[in-house]
Amino acid sequence: MFTDMRQGGREDWKVIGAAHWRHQQTGAPMQIMDTLRRLEPMELGFAANQLTHSLMAATLARRDGASDEEVVAALCHDIGKVLSIPNHGPIAAEMLKPYVSDDIYQAIYWHQDFQGAYYYEYLGKPSDLRENFRKESWFAVAEKLVDRWDAPAFDPDFAVDPLESFEDQVVRVFSTPKR
Ligand SMILES: [Fe+2]
Repeated sequence: MFTDMRQGGREDWKVIGAAHWRHQQTGAPMQIMDTLRRLEPMELGFAANQLTHSLMAATLARRDGASDEEVVAALCHDIGKVLSIPNHGPIAAEMLKPYVSDDIYQAIYWHQDFQGAYYYEYLGKPSDLRENFRKESWFAVAEKLVDRWDAPAFDPDFAVDPLESFEDQVVRVFSTPKR
């Protein structure tokens, strides 16, 4: 195995490629689960902490008969808050991009502007930013994500499905790149 990439050959890259694939099949989904757990201490002024919020959004999606991709989108839509509040939508969207449809990618990317209908007026921002996207193919899935699963998911007393109950869906989605 090379110690200087400039000297790498075909056999090296076979080994490296296989190791990366194995990590994406098992290690990466577990890192997603661990990162979701890190949302628990983050209350951010809401009634429910960010893990409960994420679990409630995913539970609502599941009970709506949502697809694996949609449930994982609901579960992970705020995962970027671990690293950056202002950029959390794009961070989550980019994490999911290889594994979900473009419509779901866009819905996660822009979800905060859709959510803004409920609070941007209190921050001095226009509350109708979602209207910029009404003609997009992903408008309906973004409205579903935000209005049916994200916005109602701040109840600390709601009996959420446990994080572990989503593990199989997280593994399925994050181990199967589509692009
Ligand atoms: Fe959210």
